[in-house]
Amino acid sequence: MLRVISVIKFLSRNWIKIAILSSICIYLFTGSIINFKKETAYNINLPMGFPDPIIPEDNQLTQERVALGKMLFYDKMLSQDKTISCGSCHAPNNSFSDNKDFSFGVNNTTGERNAMPLINLAWSNSFLWDGGVPTLEMQVMNPLTNPKEMNISISEAVKRLNENKTYVKLFKKAYGSKPDANTLFKAIASFERTLVSGNSKFDQYYYKKDAMAYNNSEIRGYYLFMGSRAHCSSCHSGVNLTNNTFQNKGLYEDYPDQGRYKITYLENDKGKFKVPTLRNIALTGPYMHDGSIKTLEEVVRHYNNGGKNHPNKSSHVHFPEEPPFNDEEIKDLVNFLHTLTDMEFVNNPAFKPDTSAKN
Ligand code: HEC
Ligand code: HEC
Repeated sequence: MLRVISVIKFLSRNWIKIAILSSICIYLFTGSIINFKKETAYNINLPMGFPDPIIPEDNQLTQERVALGKMLFYDKMLSQDKTISCGSCHAPNNSFSDNKDFSFGVNNTTGERNAMPLINLAWSNSFLWDGGVPTLEMQVMNPLTNPKEMNISISEAVKRLNENKTYVKLFKKAYGSKPDANTLFKAIASFERTLVSGNSKFDQYYYKKDAMAYNNSEIRGYYLFMGSRAHCSSCHSGVNLTNNTFQNKGLYEDYPDQGRYKITYLENDKGKFKVPTLRNIALTGPYMHDGSIKTLEEVVRHYNNGGKNHPNKSSHVHFPEEPPFNDEEIKDLVNFLHTLTDMEFVNNPAFKPDTSAKN
């Protein structure tokens, strides 16, 4: 009883102090929660018809990670002689590809394959033309260390980042630690996962069911593409117009680059390459893993001829029973391919280099 009375006495004498202390605690607690939510949540805006994206448990998307990844993506400091960034070969206006058959790396060296577009990568589970890399995090090391691309050792890249006060601060905010190889890879991969496209004419026609989105030629092209005569959609299917398999489409009788075979050493993988996405295809020429076909019309004519003979050529690249397309049908197919362009994606300021950033 006495104790209760003394507690009441204590409270009544000190109520002002207690009230001030509790308000400070409440302010700090709710403040940090609100702050946490505002600063960290990054939600991918899922386009209509898309399944959930693949985001690794240990690299969830946050605003800070994405912003840091974007800065790194465009920073030439991450190449040996500070002349090349990821963005040099993966430019927003070309759907994060370039318009060369083989891209230029440091010291004007040229690579051996056509730069791939970076678009809707959060729905892909293998990377490169031969699918040799399983995650986006792992696909940051390749271009950095490749002598024909950025030609820098990971330890040198990490050293440069640690010498830069802004980066040290931003890595701390994004990952709670100093720059290291792991967080460098994770930050760039986070930015890449936000490069989402889902507002082309094709999306309006096919996913949003707007029948007026297409003109007559585009509709004819769509039915040819999806139909059994052209077989296009037997490989170019799903939200990104790829079934994520590796196929030989009869580009050569004898392939200078053996593609998937370089990874598996299986005879029947010779000349097989990843079925590429066709999103924004009108912006990413020249075409194929080696940039050997210059225009979309030539691509369609290549399929129309049935391709070159190769023991691994897919039976879908062949027109044994079907009559080839006439000139009008070729035009219709090309017009359909143009409807896969999403200018909202290309012009999105969130994907372009910040003009204030040094790069
Ligand atoms: C010199 C030009 C060049 C630079 C610089 C470059 N890339 Fe690439 N990128 C390519 C080429 C070429 C390919 C295809 C290579 C292959 O298949 O072997 C590619 C493929 C990719 C892919 C695979 C896409 C897919 O759909 O499978 C990703 C992801 C990628 N690059 C990310 C990056 C990142 C991140 C950087 C910077 C750290 C970067 N690239 C720097 C030329 C470049
Ligand atoms: C057997 C599977 C298959 C079929 C069927 C197919 N493609 Fe392809 N397509 C591929 C593969 C694999 C590549 C990449 C080949 C390479 O680089 O050597 C490709 C590449 C392309 C490219 C160039 C992409 C780029 O980024 O360079 C276009 C455009 C294209 N196909 C359109 C079509 C059209 C149109 C049809 C139907 C007439 C069609 N494809 C049928 C598998 C297929």
